[in-house]
Amino acid sequence: MTLKCMELREFIARVGEDEAEKALSSFSVKRNPDVENFIRNNAIAYEKSDNARTYLVLTEDIDILGYFSLALSVIDIPSEISKAMMKKMRGFGRLSADSVPCYLLGQLARDDNASHDDLMMRDFIDFAIEYVMAAKQYVGGRFLLIDCVDDLVDLYERHDFIKINKTGDLNQLIMFLE
Ligand SMILES: CC(C)(COP(=O)(O)OP(=O)(O)OC[C@H]1O[C@@H](n2cnc3c(N)ncnc32)[C@H](O)[C@@H]1OP(=O)(O)O)[C@@H](O)C(=O)NCCC(=O)NCCS
Repeated sequence: MTLKCMELREFIARVGEDEAEKALSSFSVKRNPDVENFIRNNAIAYEKSDNARTYLVLTEDIDILGYFSLALSVIDIPSEISKAMMKKMRGFGRLSADSVPCYLLGQLARDDNASHDDLMMRDFIDFAIEYVMAAKQYVGGRFLLIDCVDDLVDLYERHDFIKINKTGDLNQLIMFLE
């Protein structure tokens, strides 16, 4: 299946806000109510307030198979990581910084009506990296951050993320943009 990735703003421009709301409100992610709630109820407001950008992964017929969101974030440098990793996270000019700016892959989910054969993690990461690398070209930025539950750590590690911390139930993983 050929996949397309479309910015939510473009989707709204094409189908109108009412139709877009209708399409997003039927997105279903039983395993993760937070990501289901975001796309159903918050994505459009986040878009309008410029707090995040949401991207829809679509079939050629513009059926929504999945989505992810990107935003700006700041991460505290964990004190437990190696000196080499601290240095790499801080980069030149921030040698003693306690926190550093980064991009956040904030939400990511496949609709329950789609399957692994339609859309998998590799597709999400490839699309997200394309947008993040474009942003990096204009404004810099050293890495992409994702927060995830224990069950997903292995999957992200298989896609070049490095686990650096755990706070509460969520693991923090980063991917250097090299
Ligand atoms: C994340 C996702 C896109 C990955 O798709 P994929 O590459 O096709 O991989 P799978 O769906 O097979 O998931 C990989 C493993 O993670 C597990 N998993 C996926 N989402 C999970 C969740 N929310 N909670 C617990 N485990 C989860 C799967 O059960 C599977 O485990 P297994 O390898 O032991 O069978 C898809 O699983 C998804 O949409 N999950 C729900 C939304 C979500 O939790 N997003 C993560 C936000 S950080």
